Amino acid sequence: MRIVLVGPPGAGKGTQAAFLAKNLSIPHISTGDLFRANISQGTELGKQAKSYMDAGNLVPDEVTIGMAEDRMARPDAANGFLLDGFPRNVSQAKALDESLKAQGVALDAVLDLEVPEDEVVRRIAGRRICRNDSSHVFHVEYSKPETEGVCDVCGGELYQRADDKEETVRKRLEVYHNETEPIIDHYKAQGLVVTISALGKVDEVTARAMAALGSGQ
Ligand code: AP5
Ligand code: ZN
Repeated sequence: MRIVLVGPPGAGKGTQAAFLAKNLSIPHISTGDLFRANISQGTELGKQAKSYMDAGNLVPDEVTIGMAEDRMARPDAANGFLLDGFPRNVSQAKALDESLKAQGVALDAVLDLEVPEDEVVRRIAGRRICRNDSSHVFHVEYSKPETEGVCDVCGGELYQRADDKEETVRKRLEVYHNETEPIIDHYKAQGLVVTISALGKVDEVTARAMAALGSGQ
């Protein structure tokens, strides 16, 4: 399956993507995680992305689209993928449409996670991620690691993302409304959007998502 996950910052896209990708046997491709890995490795791409991310703005399309397409061209994504955080504006969505069309394939669904803004703020304020791998995600209240400050998956140190401070979160929400939400209409016109509530426990949301994708247990 080829799936796009969309929803505001802190909706739980990364959390759900980890389970959905496993259940559906497809790779989880997060442009945010790819950027953060590049930043921690000190690559040129990471240097280009960092100032935009720290300010809560989108990284320019010239950098982002090429990076996402390179990742999708890897062999593990030949038969499907779960995109998390890409596309994030209409021009990225159009670039993805073109690229899939050129390969003679198409998206199966765009899964839209709906969460009220006050819950998004609670989720982001308590989020802690792993220094070794930003896809290892915890929450100080809702998803506590066994030992405080230590990643359950790899033993790495947990920390708060630079863009998770309050003023940057407000900026990211504004960017989401202005630039990312319009892709939902773009995909509605293609009949691809399924919207679910992302409130409730993580496993309840996963079950709802699997059912919405037609793969419910
Ligand atoms: P990115 O990393 O994509 O961030 P985001 O979209 O803002 O999403 P988040 O990672 O904040 O949230 P999430 O929905 O994954 O939530 P999570 O699962 O962690 O992007 C960061 C930046 O990179 C952007 O601002 C931009 O600069 C740049 N960028 C990335 N892609 C780009 C693109 N395509 N174009 C341009 N720029 C791009 O969950 C949040 C918290 O809630 C966690 O602590 C989790 O434990 C908890 N939680 C999750 N589910 C539940 C639940 N059901 N109940 C209780 N708690 C829960
Ligand atoms: Zn870890």
